[in-house]
Amino acid sequence: MRTKLSAIIICALLFACNSSNKKEISKINNTKQSPELKQSKERGEDIYNDFCIACHMPNGNGVPKTFPPLKNSDYLMNNRNKSIKAIKYGLSEEIVVNGETYNTPMTRLGLSDAEVADVMNYITNSWGNNNPSIITEKEVSKINP
Ligand code: HEC
Repeated sequence: MRTKLSAIIICALLFACNSSNKKEISKINNTKQSPELKQSKERGEDIYNDFCIACHMPNGNGVPKTFPPLKNSDYLMNNRNKSIKAIKYGLSEEIVVNGETYNTPMTRLGLSDAEVADVMNYITNSWGNNNPSIITEKEVSKINP
């Protein structure tokens, strides 16, 4: 009886330790980004301030009915390839972002593939957006018009 009880206690302790360990790891994964992603975001922030901020605004909120938001944008966060394509080649078609229709053209900005990757890593990880899966220059180079 006693051995059974201590076996149960040991099991419970092991389980508790294990699950709290797992929690700790997932917390670290969520908050700690790879050095590559961090550096890319830093470069992307400079690009954003030079090329995007005038329309999409410092807080990523855009301008209602004219320039769509990037903060919490369902279009951006659900359409990785289309968003890369829009930044790489420009975009002039009717799109719906968070239920609002936009149809103002965004001109091609003349960024290199590496710059498109950096600014994508910045905007998909700013203002509460979260995208741990890094976008690389190689990925951008494969997106065609
Ligand atoms: C001259 C204003 C302007 C500039 C500068 C600009 N955009 Fe846009 N952007 C727009 C407009 C307008 C649209 C919607 C285009 C459409 O309806 O076809 C758009 C759409 C987008 C979208 C897809 C829709 C969404 O909100 O998720 C992304 C992503 C985006 N822009 C990112 C950028 C990035 C990154 C930069 C800078 C490298 C940039 N834009 C520069 C005006 C601009």
